[in-house]
Parts: sequence; structure tokens; C-alpha cells
Amino acid sequence: MTPLPPRRSGELDGEVQQHHTVSRAAVPLQEVPGPPCEDGAVSGAIRPPDPLPVPGGAGGAAQEGGPGAAAVTSERKRDHLRLALDGPVASSATTGLERLRLRARALPERDLDQVGLAIDVLGHRLAAPLLLSCMTGGTGEAGPVNRALAAAAQIHGVAFGLGSGRVLLEDSSMAPTFGVRDVAPDVLLLANLGAVQLRTYSAADCARLVQLCEADVLVLHLNAVQEAVQPSGDTGFGGLLRRIAQVCTALEVPVLAKEVGFGMAPEDVAALLDAGVAGVDVAGAGGTNWARVEGLRDDRAGRIAAAFADWGWPTATCVAAAAPLCRSRGALLIGSGGLVDGVDAAKVLCLGADLAAVGRGVLAAGAQGPEAAAAAVGELVEQLRIATWACGAGSVAELDRGCLLPAEGFSGPAGAG
Ligand SMILES: Cc1cc2nc3c(=O)[nH]c(=O)nc-3n(C[C@H](O)[C@H](O)[C@H](O)COP(=O)(O)O)c2cc1C
Repeated sequence: MTPLPPRRSGELDGEVQQHHTVSRAAVPLQEVPGPPCEDGAVSGAIRPPDPLPVPGGAGGAAQEGGPGAAAVTSERKRDHLRLALDGPVASSATTGLERLRLRARALPERDLDQVGLAIDVLGHRLAAPLLLSCMTGGTGEAGPVNRALAAAAQIHGVAFGLGSGRVLLEDSSMAPTFGVRDVAPDVLLLANLGAVQLRTYSAADCARLVQLCEADVLVLHLNAVQEAVQPSGDTGFGGLLRRIAQVCTALEVPVLAKEVGFGMAPEDVAALLDAGVAGVDVAGAGGTNWARVEGLRDDRAGRIAAAFADWGWPTATCVAAAAPLCRSRGALLIGSGGLVDGVDAAKVLCLGADLAAVGRGVLAAGAQGPEAAAAAVGELVEQLRIATWACGAGSVAELDRGCLLPAEGFSGPAGAG
């Protein structure tokens, strides 16, 4: 692979460029959940109490709701949370990051506390280039998880994403399960909606969702295989790009697009950027597999899902492929999908991502509560700091392909490197 020139603060073109600066953030060394086990459970992670705590007492939103759409969505959200915590939902593919090694330096020639992790993204200063991925909301159990993770994001100065707000558009009584601003007043906060929902919901609804969540950014997720495996899933993906473009034009906040764990082909990244998204989260394969999650909810879906257990673009491959496309347009690139620690985060930054995102790797800590969540995120940040330092970089802006050892058998797609 051809090493790319180091990406330094302010080197990107366009809007994102103005927001990239580097400074140093001090964080304590804390505990973090271990990597996904073979069966998909998170090793070393603390299990949530069973049943999960429900704000406002027993029952929970799904049980309180009637037989309407919101109640069905809420029940599904509850299943997703439980299965992601306890079910065999890991992809049988690997991220490809395991084949990459950081180029360790015996002589970093600077003090660890001189390493800068801070970065400015979409007008917000982050203390470290990390995002806690969009995961939950819309069921009683989700509220405490969101609040614990959002509070951890506030403590450590990283970004935080809420799960799909479709249920909130269907039923405003779900608002408390998405309400995190009081515990995360300064956090770069992402609201989220399935792109396929744009067949039902307008740009005005998207703006309302952003407002209800008090978010800074809207993320539209693309989850074609998940919808196809899910009984009664919505597979009407025809014409979505035009609808996404309309939302990008209409909204005052930046709009991002993400996958949910199968990655994005370069031509999809290019099309989304041309449609006006401010950036993409490729969410590659090797972590949570949403065909398997849906397959655990229904026998027939499980038989369909079995063929998709290793589906998708490995994270390393799709980050490498998306990097030059995003860089040339000054768009934000988020590298995610199966990241388990701060060394994985450093690797996706080396491949060209601006932010590294972690989903299920922090979910168990979020379910355990604010202390465990803060500890988990703190350790991620510390691991990233050590990795940056120990491969000789002075800041995360200096992490680039030159900080990776050439990996046998790995090369990004043509044009990626
Ligand atoms: C419990 C759970 C719920 C999720 N819900 C959403 C969602 O509502 N919207 C979305 O864009 N992604 C959702 N995701 C996908 C994650 O944001 C992420 O893209 C995916 O899990 C891959 O990252 P990971 O391997 O680090 O978990 C969810 C993930 C989990 C584990």
C-alpha cells in the first residue's frame, strides 16, 4: 500500500477543514469491555441487570403502548437492545483491522501527555476523535442506556449518537428515552432515522426529530439487509438517494449517512456525498451483524439470515476505499464496525477516518450505568492516546498510512491507497 501524506490540522478542503484543529485532552485510565466473543457476547463486559431498569417504574413504554405502530417499533427496539447485549450477533467476518499493525516506535521522543487527541468536527471541539455510535431509544430500557453513554461522552469530550427516532415521530411520549441534553449539554449529539423512513417522513419531520432530540446533526442510516431479513421490514429502497438529497438541502444542520455493519461500497459513498451529505460512517463488517440480530427474533428470518452471517465490506477495506473520496470533497469520514478498543480506533484513523466510532463495544457498559460507561469510554480514549504516542505521532492528525506496517494480504481497493 502506498503511504498517504500525513493529514495535519486544517489540511482538508471545504467545510470540514475549518473544523480540524489539534489540542491535548487529559483523561483517566479506566476499564473497558473486552472484544466480542465468538458467540457474539461482549467478553469482559458487565451484564445489565435483568430486567433492565425502566424509567418511571415497572412496565416500560412497549407495554404501555397500544397496538399501534409505535408500540410495535418500541417492542422491536427492546428486542434489539437485549439481543445486542446477550445474543450471538457478531459477524462471522472479521474487520480486517486484525491484519493491520501500528508501526511501533521504541523511542516516541515526546512525553505521553504531550500527545494531542482533540479535533474540531462540524463546528464542535471534541477532546478525542471518537463517537459512541447511534444505538438506542424508543423503549423504556433505552433511556438509562442513552443517558449513561451520553454522560460518559460529556465527561470525555467525545460525540454521541441516539438510536433511530422513528418511534419518537410516531409517539412523542417516547421523548424521555431520547432525552440526554441535561446530562450532555456540550456533546456533539447525533439524531438518527432510517433513510428508508423518508418514504413516510418528510424533511420537516426530520427537522422536528432533530429539534426533539436537541441534536446537532442528523444521521440517516442505510440498512437494506436488515430490513430484508426483518419480518415486514421495509425494503422500498427505490429512489432513496433523491429523498436523502432533499433532506440535505432542507435541513439547517449537517446530515450524515451511515450503514449499520455491512459497510459501504465506494460508489455508494460517492453518490451520498454528491447528494449533499456532510459525511459518511461506513460501519463495516466484522462487528454487529444486523441480519443475525433480526434472525434471532424469528425462525424464518433466522434461516434467511444464516446466509448473511459474513455479509459486507470488512471495516478496514471500506474505510480505506472511502478515505480518498471523503478527503477530496472535504467530507467527514467515520470509521466503524467491530472496533473493540483504542488501538482499533487508531487503525481506522490511520486508514483515513476523521472519527472512529464504537457501538456494541460500549453498550454493555452503558447498560451497567453512568460509572461503567464513563470508565469504558475513558479507557478507549487512553488506549487511543497511548497508541498514537507509541507509533511516534504527536497528535491524531498525524495518524496516517505511514503509521501502519504493510500488512500481508491487505490492500485497499484500487484508488484507496
Ligand atoms: C443495540 C443496537 C441498536 C442499534 N440501533 C441503531 C439505530 O437505531 N440506528 C443506526 O444507525 N444504527 C444502529 N445500530 C448500529 C450501530 O450504530 C453500528 O453501526 C453497528 O452496530 C456496527 O458497529 P459495532 O460493530 O461497533 O456495533 C445499533 C447497534 C446496536 C448494537
